Amino acid sequence: MKVDVVAAPLPEVKADALVVGVHADDKGLRDPVARLDRALRGRLAALVAAERFQARAGQVTHCHVDGGASASRVVLVGLGRRDEVTAETLRRAAAVGLRRARDLGARAVAIEAFGERVPIRRRAHALVEGALLAAYAFDRYKREKSDRHVQSVRLVEADRRVTREAADGARRGETFAQGTWLARDLINTPAIDLHPADLARQAAQVARAGRLRLTVYDRAACRRLGMGAFLGVAAGSAQPPKFIHLRYTPRGRARRRIAVIGKGITFDSGGLDLKSADGMLRMKYDMAGAGAVLGIMRALPALRPPVEVHGLVAACENMPSGTAIRPGDVLRAMNGTSIEIGNTDAEGRLTLADAICYARERVKADEIIDMATLTGACVVALGTLCAGLMANDQTLAQRVLVAAEAAGERVWQLPLIDEYKEQFKGDVGDLNNTGGRNAGAITAGLFLKEFAGTTPWAHLDIAGPAFTEKELPLGPKGATGMAVRTILEYLCGDGRQA
Ligand code: BES
Ligand code: MN
Ligand code: ZN
Repeated sequence: MKVDVVAAPLPEVKADALVVGVHADDKGLRDPVARLDRALRGRLAALVAAERFQARAGQVTHCHVDGGASASRVVLVGLGRRDEVTAETLRRAAAVGLRRARDLGARAVAIEAFGERVPIRRRAHALVEGALLAAYAFDRYKREKSDRHVQSVRLVEADRRVTREAADGARRGETFAQGTWLARDLINTPAIDLHPADLARQAAQVARAGRLRLTVYDRAACRRLGMGAFLGVAAGSAQPPKFIHLRYTPRGRARRRIAVIGKGITFDSGGLDLKSADGMLRMKYDMAGAGAVLGIMRALPALRPPVEVHGLVAACENMPSGTAIRPGDVLRAMNGTSIEIGNTDAEGRLTLADAICYARERVKADEIIDMATLTGACVVALGTLCAGLMANDQTLAQRVLVAAEAAGERVWQLPLIDEYKEQFKGDVGDLNNTGGRNAGAITAGLFLKEFAGTTPWAHLDIAGPAFTEKELPLGPKGATGMAVRTILEYLCGDGRQA
């Protein structure tokens, strides 16, 4: 996908489709759309009248033009009321406009930089990001590929004084979307084609493309590190585990060192505590946190934040077999904590426990953020559109919430109520890996907190929003790439606090 910014009057923009925005509370068309309409001899005003187009947010219509403008189609998208326009309005408007243009067969799509209430950099970012996220498709396994593919997106901002800022925002939007695309591709890939070794290979590609350092630990190396919890989960699978460590270092002195951890269960069968057929159906997605880590690391070199970022994934497959761990077994994590297995299906927290220990002991991270499709309970609590946030440090939690808001991803904080710890006290071991039915998302968070110690740590349970069973405003059915944009915003957003 090619993305660029041009400073040209709308009638002169060459494209297969030109997307323009309309506010619900404007009397008539505003400039520069009014000027375009004059060049088209009132074609757009007639379209608005004929279709009684009210310009509600999400509304879209189009017309074909010949003569008067250099574009061959104009797509009108509604923006709702002028004073209610946010960056998310713009993402969704660009998305709906791009989809209409694509469905009409357009390959080169131009988008007017509408939404002047939002400052130009953020506006350009949101418009390009929304368009690119909507353009995503996963058809690798289809015999018949769609012939409708947008090949270029051109943002049109006539004011030459802001072209540079617009171009900068557009590039950031493109980078955020590309990171999200990578995460979606990895998560959508079936588990048969994405074993832990494949994740490690993908990490190597990300490292090569962005000149990042990469270390991959195999089973023996993980044993030497004392990662007994992680290796316990891996024990049932014929696929060897890989512990992946990617690092981005900024030019000049790093302000802080941040570890970003992703749950990387390439398939979660439940282990000997086998899931039901229904419960297992989508479990190729249990590496969505890992996909997010690779998407984030892919994007960082282009964004150049002044912080050191370590991407960590303890990748393995949770399978039942004669070599699998059993209920009642006791494992020892890297920090020496013994963990009694109450349920082999609570495997994510075991792999994350060792990854958190590694982030503390080896990386010596100043702060840790993990992303994980950790609990069905979180989906029950918050549904499929919202991630759960838990943290041992309220300043960090607040900063993640602000970043999520700016990124347009829904995140809601859950309380880590200390007394619930008694739910996962071990009988034989220090801890049990299950905490009963009540507050399942929170007890999983409390379990992880045991390993974070005094390091500021935040945990995103993305079990709900990582995957969608129906098309959403910013993407098709399947993996969403949840958390990539929030964490990128956190690490290097406009309102950066990192
Ligand atoms: N990967 C699942 C979480 C999950 C479950 C996501 C259902 C989406 C839908 C995780 O490994 C898991 O199986 N969690 C168990 C924990 C339980 C055994 C304590 C769960 O949530 O049921
Ligand atoms: Mn599980
Ligand atoms: Zn799992």
